[in-house]
Amino acid sequence: MAKDRIKSVKGMHDLFEVDLATWRKLERAAQDTFTAFGYGEIRTPILEKTALFVRGVGEATDIVSKEMFRFDDSGGDGGKVTDVCMRPEGTAAVVRALLQAGKLTPDSDERVFYMGPMFRRERPAKGRFRQFFQLGAEAFGFTRPSIDVEMMAMVQTLLDELGLTGVKLLINTLGDPEDRAAYTEALKGYYQDHFDKLSDDAKDRLEKNPLRLLDGKEDVLVELAKDAPKIDGFLGDAAKAHFDDVREGLTRLKIPFVVEPKLVRGLDYYTRTVFEAVAESGLGAQNAVAAGGRYDGLVEQLGGKSMPGVGFAAGIERLVLLLEDAGKKLDKQPPQLMLIAADDAGRNAAEVLALDLRRQGTCVEVDHRGAKMKAQIRRADRASIPFVVVLGSREVEDGKGQLKKMATGDVQDVDLTADALSAGLQTLSSAS
Ligand code: HAM
Repeated sequence: MAKDRIKSVKGMHDLFEVDLATWRKLERAAQDTFTAFGYGEIRTPILEKTALFVRGVGEATDIVSKEMFRFDDSGGDGGKVTDVCMRPEGTAAVVRALLQAGKLTPDSDERVFYMGPMFRRERPAKGRFRQFFQLGAEAFGFTRPSIDVEMMAMVQTLLDELGLTGVKLLINTLGDPEDRAAYTEALKGYYQDHFDKLSDDAKDRLEKNPLRLLDGKEDVLVELAKDAPKIDGFLGDAAKAHFDDVREGLTRLKIPFVVEPKLVRGLDYYTRTVFEAVAESGLGAQNAVAAGGRYDGLVEQLGGKSMPGVGFAAGIERLVLLLEDAGKKLDKQPPQLMLIAADDAGRNAAEVLALDLRRQGTCVEVDHRGAKMKAQIRRADRASIPFVVVLGSREVEDGKGQLKKMATGDVQDVDLTADALSAGLQTLSSAS
């Protein structure tokens, strides 16, 4: 009896070549952009101690309180039981790693980028997964608003590099911690006055994280947010001047943006600037492709000396969905050439020649099924392989064959060497 097939875990997906061709293009563009801005790569483990995110991201945030893949690891750390989780985001982990390596000293500056999987136990939806990939960057040691601007410029450069238009940059400020505390109190008061209208979930937010009431998706919250107090009235002079400079800097670099007072972000570590790049169409409700901001208190929060930080992360799947929607999906490239074997001597010669060509970087296909010559040619045709050469005893003996362009039937006599075939491929490719 056939056994049930075991499927992947909900919200976690396999990735196949058809999609990964676009992923690689994206990753390459990101690497080039990060390098041009002076960022070096960092890779941190997938498992971290849960305390890192409880302390770094905030116990009351959704991603920590509800969405962690969390378990007890016994046997690590000298036999003690350790509460660990699969990282839900990269920023706290990057801070932990740099602190642990002694790299975050008050007069140092560090700029790092990362790419890799993150895990959140969310309800899966279009563009929302339980394993998803982020690419992101973090810069430490810079207080000036120009680094906030540079971070957003880097996001914009990447989007431009990918040819993605229709992504809007939203920015806001959450002020300094004392501004934010006063603002949070004002929000509490406002929503308390409307307590009866709130759902259980909203009441829970009111108690634990009132800022998040502003970006709630429920109709009543959208309605209430319109008249809710705005952060402007609560900003201290320093935070206000910082935000003015950020806006001026973006304008100077000709990076379009919209100030969105309801943008509060779901992680607790932000101070002053926050931003999100949102797709105007194609992603439905999960339209944030990249998000970030300044977090001047996080390094200290995690046991380091006081040190400013700013960064962002982008969802790779969401960027890929946008690229695919924009018709920028890259299909797997077919091999350039198939060496067709007419007999055993041809088969042996094809294997040797294929290896030589592959070592030079040419993608070559040979038959491994023992198929007849005609079947091999049919296969080359079906796989859209543009060029073929037939190799039989006669060709092997003469050391010469005919390179054929499948689309036109054009042929060219070639020596059966890797160099001559490469040259022939070039000549026939450029001939229309
Ligand atoms: P975040 O807003 O939680 O921020 O995530 C950043 C981006 O990751 C989102 O804008 C979205 O594109 C993608 N993303 C988040 N959750 C999912 C999901 N379940 N499925 C698919 N994509 C998702 C952070 O993670 C911060 N660490 C960003 C940051 C870096 N702030 C400062 N530095």
